[in-house]
Amino acid sequence: MKATHLYLLLQVFLSASVLVHTFDPFTTVLAVGVGATLGRTIYKYLHESCDPKWIAFDATGLQVDLGNKLFGQHIASRIILQAVNEFMTNDNLKKPLVLSLHGSSGTGKTFVSQLIADNIYKEGMDSSFVHIFNSTLHFPHSSHLDTYKSQLQQWIKGNVSNCAQSMFIFDEMDKMHPGLIDSIKPYLDYYDKLDGVSYRKAIFIFLSNAGGEIIAQKALDFWKAGRDREEIKLKDLEKFLSLAVFNKNGGLSHSSLIVNNLVDFFVPFLPLEYRHVVQCVMAEMKARGLRPDPGVADRLAKDFIYFPESERVFSSKGCKTIQRKLKFYL
Ligand SMILES: *[C@@H]1O[C@H](CO)[C@@H](O)[C@H](O)[C@H]1NC(C)=O
Ligand SMILES: *[C@@H]1O[C@H](CO)[C@@H](O)[C@H](O)[C@H]1NC(C)=O
Repeated sequence: MKATHLYLLLQVFLSASVLVHTFDPFTTVLAVGVGATLGRTIYKYLHESCDPKWIAFDATGLQVDLGNKLFGQHIASRIILQAVNEFMTNDNLKKPLVLSLHGSSGTGKTFVSQLIADNIYKEGMDSSFVHIFNSTLHFPHSSHLDTYKSQLQQWIKGNVSNCAQSMFIFDEMDKMHPGLIDSIKPYLDYYDKLDGVSYRKAIFIFLSNAGGEIIAQKALDFWKAGRDREEIKLKDLEKFLSLAVFNKNGGLSHSSLIVNNLVDFFVPFLPLEYRHVVQCVMAEMKARGLRPDPGVADRLAKDFIYFPESERVFSSKGCKTIQRKLKFYL
């Protein structure tokens, strides 16, 4: 149960006890007084704050989650675990952690961000220290670029001043106006402090479909050569990835973040095969407290569309839409 829920529940309980005593003024005053004090104490205890009670890295938790809940992503899984581990256990940080996750939709980029948040913040993605910026939602009009730039700078500065261990997730980077993300370059760089604020403990995660085709092409090459997908190495993809992202339209197009090597890792997410979609469905059934049924998983996975048209190896939507579709197959 979330802290805020507990607090609300307590409020309801206290209001109810006040009502009961409505006809006795003395008891009412007493009840309100005691209630308010108690409420404040409990609120202070339960309210999320920027300290180790609410922010504590669970390395084992992240490893277990990546191992049990993320499918078909041996490269991403390994880099994320290593990068986050090193960052969270280093007491001599020189810059914030900057990860750029790439792959086509449904391959697990948002999901991995959630797993990271879950294992750092008690409140996970609901934490008030985790901030999601959605390019199409927050920065839709290119004519407002200058406003967006100063707004974004203020938000990041404000939030990091508030809590050094803040996490910022930028979704749909490929739809972001080029240049916007460069406005926060100083915060991602090797500075001790800027205007008295240190950004070194913050985490920035960029999510993007850019590079998805190149990753899929590499995965298909391996498949056609009869090689195991687990043989694909980061170095087979990394150099193409940063180049593709740099040269394509979108948030990191010709970005000084790339020129200045401020992105710590470009993390490729491979396209998912039929067997991974089956795994996703089985996991979803388990998460809903149902007995995982291979027959259901098989039927649902078979109804997905696979590409390329001739070979039909990879799910074109990855594991997306399973949550919505599952009920029609039970
Ligand atoms: C961002 O917006 C798009 C389109 O509105 C949506 O599909 C996506 O889920 C959003 N991302 C997050 C992390 O909320
Ligand atoms: C923190 O970021 C959010 C956007 O996620 C913004 O609305 C809020 O104003 C920021 N807080 C501060 C103190 O700047």
